[in-house]
Amino acid sequence: MEWKSGRNLREAFISFFEERGHKHYKSFPLVPDDPTVLFTIAGMVPFKPYFLGAREPEVKRAVTAQKCLRTNDIDNVGRTGRHHTFFEMLGNFSFGDYFKEQAIPWGWEFLTRVVGLEADRMYATIYRDDDEAFEIWHKVVGLSKERIVRLGEDDNFWAVGPVGPCGPCSELIYDQGPEFSCGSPSCGVGCSCDRYLEVWNLVFMQYDRDTEGVLRPLPKKNIDTGMGLERLCSVVQRAKNDFGTDLFRPIVERVCALAGVRYGSDGRQDMAVRVISDHIRAMAFLVADRVLPSNEGRGYVLRRIIRRSIRYGRLIGLERPFLTELLPVVIDLMADPYEELVEGRSTIEQVLELEERRFARTLEQGTELLEAEIASRLSRKETILPGDVAFVLYDTYGFPLELTEEICKERGLSVDREGFAREMERQRELARAAGRRPSSLKEDVYLELYGELGDTPFEGYVLSEAEASVLALVKGGARAKTAGPGEEVEVFLSSTPFYAQKGGQVGDKGWIEADGTRLRVDDVKYAEGGLVSHLCTVEEGRISAGMKVRAIVDEERRWAIRRHHTATHLLHEAAVRVLGPHVRQAGSLVTPEYLRLDLSHFAPISNDEMKKIEEIVNAEIQANVPLQVLLSSLEDAKALGAKALFEEKYGEEVRVVRVPGFCAELCGGTHVDATGDIGLFKIVREEGIGADARRITAVAGMPAFNCLRQAYEELRGAAERLGADMFAVCDQVGSLQDEIKSLRRALEEAKLQALAARIDDILSKREEIGGVSVVTAAFDGADVGLLRELGDRVKSRQPRSLVVLASRDGERAQLVIMADEAAVKVGVHAGKLAKEVASLAGGGGGGKAQMAQVGGIDPSKVEEALNGVPDILRRMLSS
Ligand code: SER
Repeated sequence: MEWKSGRNLREAFISFFEERGHKHYKSFPLVPDDPTVLFTIAGMVPFKPYFLGAREPEVKRAVTAQKCLRTNDIDNVGRTGRHHTFFEMLGNFSFGDYFKEQAIPWGWEFLTRVVGLEADRMYATIYRDDDEAFEIWHKVVGLSKERIVRLGEDDNFWAVGPVGPCGPCSELIYDQGPEFSCGSPSCGVGCSCDRYLEVWNLVFMQYDRDTEGVLRPLPKKNIDTGMGLERLCSVVQRAKNDFGTDLFRPIVERVCALAGVRYGSDGRQDMAVRVISDHIRAMAFLVADRVLPSNEGRGYVLRRIIRRSIRYGRLIGLERPFLTELLPVVIDLMADPYEELVEGRSTIEQVLELEERRFARTLEQGTELLEAEIASRLSRKETILPGDVAFVLYDTYGFPLELTEEICKERGLSVDREGFAREMERQRELARAAGRRPSSLKEDVYLELYGELGDTPFEGYVLSEAEASVLALVKGGARAKTAGPGEEVEVFLSSTPFYAQKGGQVGDKGWIEADGTRLRVDDVKYAEGGLVSHLCTVEEGRISAGMKVRAIVDEERRWAIRRHHTATHLLHEAAVRVLGPHVRQAGSLVTPEYLRLDLSHFAPISNDEMKKIEEIVNAEIQANVPLQVLLSSLEDAKALGAKALFEEKYGEEVRVVRVPGFCAELCGGTHVDATGDIGLFKIVREEGIGADARRITAVAGMPAFNCLRQAYEELRGAAERLGADMFAVCDQVGSLQDEIKSLRRALEEAKLQALAARIDDILSKREEIGGVSVVTAAFDGADVGLLRELGDRVKSRQPRSLVVLASRDGERAQLVIMADEAAVKVGVHAGKLAKEVASLAGGGGGGKAQMAQVGGIDPSKVEEALNGVPDILRRMLSS
C-alpha cells in the first residue's frame, strides 16, 4: 500500500496523537542539552527534566518523531538488518497526565486500526508482576491471555541509564510468520530473531533510580513510548529487514551503484553495504547538528562512524572518496522534515570530504601494518593484539580502537584494551610533563589571603577611577606591611575598578595613588578565586596596608581593549554567519593592540570569506548600535540566543552582552557603549591551529587605522619606485616578473651559445681510447643544466663518446659525465666512472651508465680529475 511510506507513517503517528491532545514538537537535536548523555538515545531524552519534576512542562502531552543515535552496539550495525546508529523514534509522552490505561489502548488502536497490522498476529509483553497492565491488555483491549507474555527485568523494565528516570514497560510484538523464524524449538515471544518483532515500547515511567541503585517514585507517573520508524516500516512494507524499506532502499542502491556490486548476492558485501547505508545517515545528521570529527567525546563517535564506513567501503572496492556522493540521496530522502540537512549541506559535504581524505592517507599503511601484525600473531598461535600496536594504529594511522578491535575480531583476535589505555596514559603523562610549570610556594600566601579577604568587588564596568583601602601587600611571595620606591609589590584592595585578566581579556594597567605616593600598576590578575592582585612598581613614596588610595585605570588603554573585545563578539557572529553554524569559539585573546579569535572550523578560511566577514563587522560598526548588558538566568540567556562559551550551570545568573539585532554572548568583559566606538576593523592574519581550528588575528580602532595606513604607505612607496599608479602596482609587478623571466631565459640561451661556440675546439682535443672518443673540458660558472645541454650537443656530434665536463664556480666545482648508448655498449659506465673520479679528486659522485655527476670537488682538483679520466676508462674497458 503506497500510503505506508516512511514519511506517511511518521505523519500518521503525529496526527494520531495530535488528535488526542498532544503537542507536536519538531525533533530535538542529536546533541542533547544535557551534559550527562552524549547523544539523544531516545525520544524521552529531551523531556528528562519534566519526568524528574525538575522543570514544569509547557504541556502535559507531547508527540515527537525524534532523531536518535546509539553506538553501544555499533559492531552489530550492518551485521544484521535491524541494528542502527542513527534512527528515528516515534513517541508519545505524558508528563503526569494519562498513564497505562490510556497508553495501551492507544498503542493498540494506532497499530491495528490506523496502520492496519493484523490483530491476530499481535502479542504484548509485560513486566512480570505488572497485573495492572495485564488487566488493561486483557479486559480493555481484549487480547487473549495466551498472547500476553510476562518477562523479566531485562526485557520489560526500561531505564535511560544506570541513574535517572525508569519504569516497567510493555511491548507490542508483531509475528512476522514462521519464514522469519530462527528455527530454534524455543523460538517464541522474547526470542531475538526476526519472527516476533518488538515494534513499540510503552514505558510506564514512575521511578528515579539514584546512584546507589535505589528506585524512588517520581513526583508523578508518566508515559514514555518509543517505536523505531525503520522497524515499523519494515513490518508494514513486508520488507526483509529495515534496509529493504523506502527509508533505506535508495541509499542501498546508490552504494551498490558506486561500488558496482549487487545487493543480496554475497553476505560479506551485503554487510558492508548496510554499514555504509546506515552510517551515512548518522554522519549527515551529526554534522548537521554541529558535531565535528575529533579525538574525543561526540567528535570521536562521529570519527569512528566515518572511518568504519570508509574501511567497509574498501572491502567492496570503493577506493575513491565516496561519502559525499551518497549525501544527495540521504538529503533527498530526509530533507522533509529535517531541514537542517539542507541548511547544513555544504558544511556536511566539506567535513566528510576532509575527514575522508585525512583517513584515506593512512588507511592503507595502517591496514598493512595491522594485517602483518595479525598474521604474525596467528602464526604464533597467539590470540591477543598488544595494546601498543593498537595505540600506534590509533595515534599514527588514525584507526579508532573500536575499528582495530572489529578487524581483529573478524580474524579471531582480541585487543589488549588495558595495554592500549596504558599507552594512552603514558602519552598524556609525557605531554603533561612537557607543559608543567614548577608549583610555587607562593600559592599558599594567596590561599591564606583569599580565606581572609574573599572576592574583590569589581567596579570597573562603570568606573575607571575609584577610592579603595589597601587590605594587604605581598612582596616576593610573602606578606608585607609596606613597600618603598623601586620595589615591586602586589596590592590587594577593598574593591577595584581594574579588570583582572579573564576570559581572554588581558588585565588593566594604570596607577594607584595617595598623597605623596604613586604606584604603577603593571598587570592585574586573579591570585585565587575572585581575589584580585594588582602587580605594581612603587614610583614615589611608600605604600602600606591600611592606606586609603585612588585606583586609576589607564583609560586610553582600557578603551582600546573595549574596542577589541566588542569587535571579537562581532567577528565571532560574522564568522558563524559566513562559515556556518558549526563554528564555535575555541579561545580568544583581547589586548589593546589586537585581538585573536580561535574558531572550530575544518578548512582554511578563504580570502573571499574573510572579506565577507570584515564587511559584516564593519557594517555593524557603522550602524552604531548601542550595546545592552543584562544579567539574566542561563535559560533566559539561551532563549535570547546568547552564545555560551563555557559550561555554565542551570540557575546561575549570567551576564549577557548584546548587540541588539546582531549578536549576544555570555561575557564578563568590558565593552564599548555602541558599536560605532570601535571605529574600524581589519583582519590581519588567518592560520590553522591543530586539525580543526583556525586562528584569526584582527585589529580594531587606531591599530586598524595604523595597519591600513602602513599598508597604504607601503603600496604608495612601491608605486613611486615603479613609477606606476598606486592601484596598478600588481599589474606593473606582474609585467616586471614576466620581463625578468624572459631576460633569464635569454641569458641562459646566451651562455649556451657562448659555450657551444667552443664545441669545435673541445672536439678537436678528443682522445680515442679503445674505440671510444673521450672529450673533457672545464668551464667557469656554468650550472649543471648548461653542462648537460652542452654534453648532449657534443654527444650528437661524436658517436660512441664519453663526455666529461667540469664547472668551477667560486669555491665549488662539479662534473657531469655522459656516455652515449654506443659507448655504454662497449663497456663505458658513467656512474662507475663518477665514483672513481670522486675517489681521485675528492667529493662524491654516482649515477647511471649514461649519465652521472660528481659534486663537492675542490676547484683546484678539477684538472687532476679530468686528466685522470683516460686511465680510468682504460681500466674500465679492459676489465
Ligand atoms: N524510552 C523507551 C525506549 O527507548 C521508550 O521510548 O525504548
